[in-house]
Amino acid sequence: MKHQELIFSNNVAEEIDIIAQKEGAPQVFVLVDVNTDRCVLPVLKKSSKTIAGAKVITIKSGDVNKNLESLAFIWEQLCNNGATRKSLLINIGGGVITDIGAFAGATFKRGIRFINVPTTLLSAVDAAVGGKTGINFNGFKNEVGVFCEAEAVIISTAFLKTLPTEELFSGYAEMLKHGLIAGRDVYNKLLDYDISKSENGDQLLELLEESVKVKKNIVEEDPTEKGIRRALNLGHTAGHAFESLALRREDPIPHGYAVAWGLVVELVLSHTQLGFPSADLQQLASYIYSKYGAFEITCNDYPALLDFMHHDKKNDSNEINFTLLKEVGDVHIDCHCSEEEIKSALDIFRDLLHI
Ligand SMILES: NC(=O)c1ccc[n+]([C@@H]2O[C@H](COP(=O)([O-])OP(=O)(O)OC[C@H]3O[C@@H](n4cnc5c(N)ncnc54)[C@H](O)[C@@H]3O)[C@@H](O)[C@H]2O)c1
Ligand SMILES: [Zn+2]
Repeated sequence: MKHQELIFSNNVAEEIDIIAQKEGAPQVFVLVDVNTDRCVLPVLKKSSKTIAGAKVITIKSGDVNKNLESLAFIWEQLCNNGATRKSLLINIGGGVITDIGAFAGATFKRGIRFINVPTTLLSAVDAAVGGKTGINFNGFKNEVGVFCEAEAVIISTAFLKTLPTEELFSGYAEMLKHGLIAGRDVYNKLLDYDISKSENGDQLLELLEESVKVKKNIVEEDPTEKGIRRALNLGHTAGHAFESLALRREDPIPHGYAVAWGLVVELVLSHTQLGFPSADLQQLASYIYSKYGAFEITCNDYPALLDFMHHDKKNDSNEINFTLLKEVGDVHIDCHCSEEEIKSALDIFRDLLHI
């Protein structure tokens, strides 16, 4: 798989023009959703020749629209507006746009070039980088897709001002996850930074750069998730279960919030299984409680949570697979925990988050 170029810059328009010139594409298409159409596109149209001259494709926003209907609409727009194998597609938006746009680009005429311009913190730190593309299908998340990397990803903090605070916190949870995987230096800087006062775009861009590199290095080693890429699942086995339970309650929670609470559960397991230091566990739990609050569960929810965890990992034995830490920066993949161990961890999670 080719490697994507990662560009960290708040001069996004300029970077887009440079890449478009280098790629020399005869036609340029821009994919946005209704929100990035309104909040981001007007600024870029004014300052980038490439965007001003591009054909814009707009889809509805939200993960529910990361579906076959939107994908077909994008293919149709490319087709009806004369896209060829030499065309360039620029995906400007959150993870929904970078996932579906990259999949459309990877498949249209067996693949056209595309670049990602993430406009949410979550897509900047996670979704837009690493080559996983796809759509939700048949009631399952990310059920259909391919691995395919963008020509380039332009990572900036330029568009975060219009983003709802909850979305900022959601992305920050993935940065914390990267910090826990990377080691104390990166992690401590993240604990010290206050994302709710993120006026300082340059400082955030530096943290973002460090955080994205954690993902980039792991993905380069294992692009198609045969092994070490599973390190990036830290917080996600429990996190996805919380996300699914919230969906079942018809009261969805942002992905990053689920990951934040999932990290607490999985650091409890890290402590009980691998001796992860209890001081670090306490520190993370009180940080998460103060920024993200708590996810209300009782022991009556445990069977459903365990079911979700089994389904997530397609694991039909009595054990569930986790990525755990021996300490900050020391990752262990494929750790098996029994249902009893997970239930005890959920008890401790509730104590730590005062539930
Ligand atoms: N491919 C991967 O590796 C990967 C990793 C993590 C998540 N994902 C996917 O990413 C998606 C979630 O990403 P997300 O949280 O960015 O969701 P999103 O794309 O739905 O964006 C969140 C909301 O913010 C709006 N928005 C985007 N940029 C904005 C801006 N600058 N100002 C104002 N509003 C703006 C969007 O329209 C949307 O309403 C999910 O579909 C998830 O499956 C993919
Ligand atoms: Zn995630």
